[in-house]
Amino acid sequence: MEIATALRTAAIVVSTALLVPAAAPVLPMQNAPSRAGMSLNGSWTTLVDPYNFGYLDYHDQPYPDGGIGANRIPKSKSDHEELGIPNTSPLLNVPGDWNTQRADLMLYEGTLWYKREFDYAPRPGRRLFLWFGAANYQAVAFLNGKKLGEHQGGFTPFQFEVTDVVKEHGNALIVMVNNQRRPEGVPATQTDWWNYGGLTRDVRLLDVPQTFLEDYSIQIQKGAPGRVAGWVRVNGPQSRQTVTVRVPEAGASVQVATDEQGFARFAFPATLTLWEPERPKLYDVVLEAGPDRVADRIGFRTVETAGQRILVNGKPVFLRGVSIHAEAPFRGGRVFSEAEARTLLTWARDLGCNFVRLAHYPHDEAMVRVADEMGLLVWAETPVYWAIQWENPATYASAERQLAEMIARDKNRASVILWSVANETPLGDVRLKFLSSLVAKAHELDSSRLVTAATLTHYTDDRTIAVDDPLGQYLDVLGCNEYIGWYDGTPDKLDRIAWKTPYNKPVVLSEFGAGALAGYHGDDETAWTEEYQANIYRHQVAMFQRIPFLQGTVAWILMDFRSPRRPVPHIQDYFNRKGLYSIRGEKKQAFYILRDFYLSFKQ
Ligand code: GCU
Repeated sequence: MEIATALRTAAIVVSTALLVPAAAPVLPMQNAPSRAGMSLNGSWTTLVDPYNFGYLDYHDQPYPDGGIGANRIPKSKSDHEELGIPNTSPLLNVPGDWNTQRADLMLYEGTLWYKREFDYAPRPGRRLFLWFGAANYQAVAFLNGKKLGEHQGGFTPFQFEVTDVVKEHGNALIVMVNNQRRPEGVPATQTDWWNYGGLTRDVRLLDVPQTFLEDYSIQIQKGAPGRVAGWVRVNGPQSRQTVTVRVPEAGASVQVATDEQGFARFAFPATLTLWEPERPKLYDVVLEAGPDRVADRIGFRTVETAGQRILVNGKPVFLRGVSIHAEAPFRGGRVFSEAEARTLLTWARDLGCNFVRLAHYPHDEAMVRVADEMGLLVWAETPVYWAIQWENPATYASAERQLAEMIARDKNRASVILWSVANETPLGDVRLKFLSSLVAKAHELDSSRLVTAATLTHYTDDRTIAVDDPLGQYLDVLGCNEYIGWYDGTPDKLDRIAWKTPYNKPVVLSEFGAGALAGYHGDDETAWTEEYQANIYRHQVAMFQRIPFLQGTVAWILMDFRSPRRPVPHIQDYFNRKGLYSIRGEKKQAFYILRDFYLSFKQ
């Protein structure tokens, strides 16, 4: 049985010892990529560890010193230390998923150890943090043999303070990453996307002053378009600081004093050009506190609902959307660069979109920053996907934490207008309690944006669909996924469907679509042909125009993406083929159907 098969079968058995939740790391500092410090990207030595041998002894108990994390170095030629990552070990690139870097790891789900050695001269009066853009799914970090902590959740950043651990030369950073799917996880064991594992985003050593600008939020003051408002928090011994917030181009600024906790709110008048899709105006915003200075690029806009309308800067907007998975164009694998983000968003722009749904998890920060620049409105989502353990408090804690991390990272992005708490989750009381709590949390963490979820359709008779998920009473905007003509009936069924909703709230069709293999042609009744997909799009577009309360449509999906649930040989080959583009960037016929519909809005 070749190693990959052995590894696959071991997938679901997550040793309980691995699941001991350590104290969750504090939320990472805001705008981490702009901070001083050093990139730790590059080639890392690695060790594939299907039995967690590096962490658990033969009785499944964690080694007291952290095992491989302790960085045990053979002391003499007769020393036969097995728990180590010699420099001769295979290399993998960071950032990057391990699956697309080595064929034998394409299906690997388990533990893999990473090691990176570096030199860094700590400066007096400074603090050092190890920052990870993301690691799928669980990561345990060690520096110079000291366990720093761990993080769960594959799509959000985390950091550990290492001020007292870093030495000038020969630092050994060791990270254990485990991507095994787990029933209590978020997501759980079933996803229609590839479970790419590893250190999938940037790793940096951040170097900040003793007391630094840890976090801030700034946006148009609610109900006062001529003013901006927000808050700032410094972290460090000098918690009482004078903080200056400036928008130089607008000649606007304010000085505030932080309290004992290092926190201060602020508001000040500013005459600004508002950010919107047609004119994505960004401003330099500079925050200064003592020796620390952070600069950011921020757009100022308001987003709200009025009955069944979505308003951006007080003006109704129809969301012309497409969903995107963080699958890299051309090469496949998890997206981690600005260039790849820009390619995907440019393809969406070419489709005539003003809106993208980043499915089903927080994408790389570069994605939302490029969306800011390009003027694309964003739906950002936490991976509460399909069925999860609704009654499990640890599952709820993980979902809430991933939501909080997503909001913390992207709260200053003008492009992000919607936080989504879930996708296609089955109705039920425990689910409703779980999700309504998440909705409340999102509103508590960010009162300036709208909260949504992608709900499932529900027929009230054989030709009427009601968008009436009970979760709707808590949401600001209802998303609803439908695959009429593909999973649900034949394409002509779309011509007979009527829609209704009891909610006086905006409704967005958050998914619709059909599969096609690029370049495969035939009549429009032959499945998997471009003609079949295009035919469904034609009927979908006609149906949209018969739904009076519809405020947006989001095609599933921009580009074909890898999925373990798509095995059809010579058609899918483990790719979901519902893309309007192939992974090589070829436009399928349906692309033009939707583009013409979206461009018709501009006339
Ligand atoms: C679902 C789901 C997607 C999935 C899609 C499909 O609606 O939300 O994650 O990929 O359907 O079946 O293609």
